[in-house]
Amino acid sequence: MASTPETHYPVLQKDLKVDIAIIGGGITGILCAYLLGDKGLNIAVFEADHILQGTTGHTTAKITSQHGLIYSKIKNQISEELARQYADANESAIRMYEKIANELNIQCDLVPQSAYIYTLQDQYINKIQDEATIADSLGIKATYLEELPLPFSVKAAVRFDDQAQFHPLKFLLPLAKEITNRGNQLFERTKIVDIEDKSNYVLMTDQGKKVTAEKIIIASHYPFYNKPGLYFTRIYPERSYVVAIKAKENYPSGMYITAEEPGRSIRSQDSDDGQLIFVGGEHHKTGQAEDTIKHYQALVDFANETFTVERIPYRWSTQDCMTLDGIPYVGHYTSDTPNMYIATGYGKWGMTNSMTSAMLLRDLITDGKSPWQDVYNPSRQTILASIKNFVVENLNVADKLIEGKTSPLPKDTNIQPGEGKVIEANGQRAGVYRDNQGTLHIVDTTCTHMGCEANWNSAEKSWDCPCHGSRFTYEGDVIEGPALRPLDIHHDVNTIEKLLKDDF
Ligand code: FES
Repeated sequence: MASTPETHYPVLQKDLKVDIAIIGGGITGILCAYLLGDKGLNIAVFEADHILQGTTGHTTAKITSQHGLIYSKIKNQISEELARQYADANESAIRMYEKIANELNIQCDLVPQSAYIYTLQDQYINKIQDEATIADSLGIKATYLEELPLPFSVKAAVRFDDQAQFHPLKFLLPLAKEITNRGNQLFERTKIVDIEDKSNYVLMTDQGKKVTAEKIIIASHYPFYNKPGLYFTRIYPERSYVVAIKAKENYPSGMYITAEEPGRSIRSQDSDDGQLIFVGGEHHKTGQAEDTIKHYQALVDFANETFTVERIPYRWSTQDCMTLDGIPYVGHYTSDTPNMYIATGYGKWGMTNSMTSAMLLRDLITDGKSPWQDVYNPSRQTILASIKNFVVENLNVADKLIEGKTSPLPKDTNIQPGEGKVIEANGQRAGVYRDNQGTLHIVDTTCTHMGCEANWNSAEKSWDCPCHGSRFTYEGDVIEGPALRPLDIHHDVNTIEKLLKDDF
């Protein structure tokens, strides 16, 4: 985001009728609009903020079919056929990136790389061996290794060849332009807040405009539309962290990730500032970490153990949607909605899974079928492990809902500049942030999605909901959904301000 320009696509100012409305201007929405755009369809994309600024702009951007130990998991828990579909889909996605970049001559730092998954623990050696064997049997160029070109020794690793890395915004911004050049439309600062299911779909924007569409694709990351599908019971959000370092030594090439916890992800990126090394990991459920700053510190510690760190010019965190079985939900929104589609739940592997989604949805919409529709089917039969995860995740949500309403609140009202806290004021819960100028920002922390209580995220200075991951600025504005409305201003602001001013 620091090395690409801002976008200024228009706000939707009048009612509109299109063949396909795409909700969400992240990587999935843009790729869907691009791939469907040469099929003679009238398409519009609606983005609540500016395109590509969410998870797409906060990624490590590995274009790889290596998604943890996914192939042994799908083959052993579901079927070899679906593991083969997943492998074919994601290998095809890599080739599609190369094809589009070549055809449009996009300069996006796209470089071939090998992708490695490694372990430091004895109990993962067999799992890595298994993954190498199964991936190879599915047609992926996978090789088992016991050494890596990194400056530490490992117990085992598997290398996937013919993978790639790139700069996602340098790739996607020209694609967005191409979408409008072909006569299709992109709208920014145009939030879709409701969907009416009539003979056609009617979408309502936050500014009261109506969009009539024959088909809709929900590509808004966490889906806000829950009437059918109940996606909030089947997706849980996680946050993770990246630091971009300048190191004294040259990076050895390759993209790396650990098989076990703590997760560590490494790749390099050339920049105007020279070579950067991205070190990522430290995931946790959104709104469920006590002190988010310590996650950045853990990555800095790992970077210092691994490289000679000179500077840390950038850091960022991101949010991902996780599914119960680790496979995204891509296809018809439900089995009863033939003209409503969804793509979500990429589980931190959004670069290939977004391209896979766009290709799959293009084929479903134009041909009525895709060779990968079964493995990604959002209405797929639930396997035993997923049933267990369903129970665990929904108990976790119920637990967080109750905890937020019943936990005793701190009486400590000493809040320093730059600090945020949940406090008790007159028996009520209030979320307070004191900015660096000393001004207080006081919100009602009750999440406007389903009423859980948001917690303070010290690293990003935001209010994060522990139930389904909605996030709000310290002033209460929505950063990401499923919530659509901002947090309320606390009803007792004056009393709280007086209490805190006296205390400061
Ligand atoms: Fe669902 Fe907050 S995101 S209750």
